[in-house]
Amino acid sequence: MASETLAQLIQTRRVLITVGAGGVGKTTTAAALGVAAAARGRNVLVLTIDPAKRLADSLGIERMSSEAVDVDPERFRAAGIAMPGRLTAMMLDTKRTFDDLVVKYSSSPAKAQQLLNNKLYKYVSTSLAGTQEYMAMEKLVAVKADGRYDLIMLDTPPTANALDFLDAPDRLVEAIDSAAMRWFVEAFQSTGKVSFNLIARSAATVLRTLGTITGGGFLEDMAEFISELNDLFGGFKQRARAVQAALRSPEVAFVLVTSPSPMSIQEVLFFSERLAEHGMPRGAFVVNRFRMPPPRAGEQISVEDAAEAVRAHGLQLDDDVAERLTQAHADAQKLALLDAFHVRSLQERVGRDVPVIRVPELASDVHDIALLYRLSERLVAGGV
Ligand SMILES: Nc1ncnc2c1ncn2[C@@H]1O[C@H](COP(=O)(O)OP(=O)(O)O)[C@@H](O)[C@H]1O
Ligand SMILES: [Mg+2]
Repeated sequence: MASETLAQLIQTRRVLITVGAGGVGKTTTAAALGVAAAARGRNVLVLTIDPAKRLADSLGIERMSSEAVDVDPERFRAAGIAMPGRLTAMMLDTKRTFDDLVVKYSSSPAKAQQLLNNKLYKYVSTSLAGTQEYMAMEKLVAVKADGRYDLIMLDTPPTANALDFLDAPDRLVEAIDSAAMRWFVEAFQSTGKVSFNLIARSAATVLRTLGTITGGGFLEDMAEFISELNDLFGGFKQRARAVQAALRSPEVAFVLVTSPSPMSIQEVLFFSERLAEHGMPRGAFVVNRFRMPPPRAGEQISVEDAAEAVRAHGLQLDDDVAERLTQAHADAQKLALLDAFHVRSLQERVGRDVPVIRVPELASDVHDIALLYRLSERLVAGGV
């Protein structure tokens, strides 16, 4: 299968999902690809999780709000960027997404309200293993049906382990549907209240499952909660299947983001294999913050040369500045060679099926529209 470029992917896909280890640039890449697609006339929703404050500010999105916000076209015009499409940004709100699901799948509004009011609900809806990842998927399925968007860029949570994301639907269902939980529900349902001698035997397991919460009426609260959640199991399970199936669609592609470090590359390759196993389409690898060779790479800059270069910029020289510059130049070359070496090994492993795109490390973090646009054009041009 001939691989498609990122320029093609942003034109042809309905959903692109950025995945990778924490801090490698998933959110930035999702936003940048959104900008690139909107600059090519598409109506794009960037569904983001944790944008760096400066990125959120530069797009004019309120980090605490989960409303969809159209990025003001004036922001692009002011930066000299033509924007024939539309860019909308939305923050993922895990709890609110969970609330919407509960309302949708409860047998009655009263039952939904009862569950939402349960003291444990807030804790579970935000802290249960995989909830955030699962809700990102949920939200995706919900907005995918929205005809206002041609392309949805889905950012993924800052999980330490990128694989959490793939397993989230199963883990969530397993956690809710674990033997301990089911047993708990039975103990509750047979008597209408918690049978404490039964609980004594397995309380430890249950507490380990949910974490330790103290406070009056805890066990009753929990039993009631689980019993209500149990009513929704059918719904949740079906949804988990639907969500996973949606990720296998040819409308979707994953963009695997990594840094040039061997550890990060190792992780992204492992993740890539898992995606392939699940039949989930890999669109591209992005090696972000790639360190480019400095000017005059391959040369050894003498201290005299460095001193002259500094003077040419009209700067005053302290004694050791030229020496330090020479050293920095040599270091920069080594780092660039190292990054190039690691990326080549990634390319060899990936083969021709999926493009590997190198994005340079910028001199500053990505804090304004102009920089984001620069990064986005680099990405679609196939990197450096
Ligand atoms: N190519 C780059 N050059 C310089 N800074 C970058 C680059 N890509 C990302 N950053 C910065 O790195 C930080 C982390 O990026 P982010 O996209 O939030 O990572 P993640 O979502 O994977 O945790 C942000 O401050 C961002 O501006
Ligand atoms: Mg992020």
